[in-house]
Amino acid sequence: MFFGAVQLGIMAACVVLFVPMGMAGWHLSRNKVLFFSGALFITLAVCIHLIPYFPSFFPQTPPVLFQQDPGNSCISSLNDVAFRSDSDGFSWNWDNSSSGSYYCDFQKLGRADVSDLLNGSWVVVAGDSQARLFMVALLELVLGADEMESIHDDLFKRHSDYHIVVEEIGLKLDFLWSPYVTNLTNVVTEFKRNHTYPDVLVMGSGLWHMLHFTNYSDYGVSLQLLRDSLFRSLPVSRKYDMEPDSARALHLFWIGMPTLINGLLNTEEKRVKMTREMCDAYDLELYKSKLLRRDGGSLLLLDVEMLSSKCGADCSSDGMHYNDVVYEASVHVMLNALLIESHQKL
Ligand SMILES: *[C@@H]1O[C@H](CO)[C@@H](O)[C@H](O)[C@H]1NC(C)=O
Ligand SMILES: *[C@@H]1O[C@H](CO)[C@@H](O)[C@H](O)[C@H]1NC(C)=O
Ligand SMILES: *[C@@H]1O[C@H](CO)[C@@H](O)[C@H](O)[C@H]1NC(C)=O
Ligand SMILES: *[C@@H]1O[C@H](CO)[C@@H](O)[C@H](O)[C@H]1NC(C)=O
Ligand SMILES: *[C@@H]1O[C@H](CO)[C@@H](O)[C@H](O)[C@H]1NC(C)=O
Repeated sequence: MFFGAVQLGIMAACVVLFVPMGMAGWHLSRNKVLFFSGALFITLAVCIHLIPYFPSFFPQTPPVLFQQDPGNSCISSLNDVAFRSDSDGFSWNWDNSSSGSYYCDFQKLGRADVSDLLNGSWVVVAGDSQARLFMVALLELVLGADEMESIHDDLFKRHSDYHIVVEEIGLKLDFLWSPYVTNLTNVVTEFKRNHTYPDVLVMGSGLWHMLHFTNYSDYGVSLQLLRDSLFRSLPVSRKYDMEPDSARALHLFWIGMPTLINGLLNTEEKRVKMTREMCDAYDLELYKSKLLRRDGGSLLLLDVEMLSSKCGADCSSDGMHYNDVVYEASVHVMLNALLIESHQKL
């Protein structure tokens, strides 16, 4: 309305100025020009002051709202988690001071909810030891304590895959040991060759590369190749073309590297190579690869770097692997993202 009034005012000024001038061109005397000018001015002034009382005669331009899609803004605040430590150890919850988590009604899912959500799904977790800890946290939600006990040794066999089918809910869970990004690319290529795709694919890798190659630009190249192969191979774009609940869609997640606490790292080699600066350089490569959704890609970040840094140094024994609570929180971040995106359906 304000903008409209300004335009009208300018137009009125022009009329007041130019109409009598035009008439003066038709040989009116100066007094008559002044008279017409004055009369026009008064008429227009009265009109302009009356406009607010008859708004319906002057259609307004609709206000432009810069409103975010509520689903999306909830997705972006999923990682806003806070940790607390007390005599029982560490606990976590969504940070209630974050506006997102305040409005979005995130929930810690219990075993029954998770069974519902993942019923009949195929979930693949591929990556390094961070991914394995993520897998453990997920299994702990799905299985009972006894079952967890019985599979513990297999699950923690170093540098190996692990497969399990939870019969009651038809849930198939695969952990694929993939310490390097090139291994992840191979996994993606194999899905394509097999013509089978999981419902949920969780990936993450970086620490091994940092330790054994210590070359961030090479890491960047491998991330780029992973992104290319994802775009070529997986039916990712389907997800954005279809209604969320009209088809099974592939949900992609990236497990971020943890915050490294240099002084706690357990070998000299790690302390020398895995510095703060090197971590930043590796992060920058991840950003440049545009693999993550926040950077224009298709993988949603499970922000283990932020979660682990919030949990703090007391939450880690070796400066690299953190207390279960960090991975538990990241599993709930993933599950809530799935809930939001699938509207309770997978
Ligand atoms: C937020 O959480 C803290 C600690 O968990 C609690 O003391 C506080 O009352 C909570 N605030 C609100 C607004 O719920
Ligand atoms: C899983 O889904 C099947 C078919 O939709 C249903 O019959 C079964 O009760 C579900 N199981 C659980 C534990 O939700
Ligand atoms: C992962 O990739 C590395 C380097 O490309 C290779 O040596 C190793 O065998 C691969 N591991 C797996 C499990 O595929
Ligand atoms: C591809 O299929 C083969 C043979 O069925 C299977 O062994 C392999 O695990 C599959 N790969 C993936 C990534 O699912
Ligand atoms: C780091 O990786 C890049 C890209 O793969 C390569 O060109 C470069 O030679 C590597 N640098 C070192 C010091 O190995």
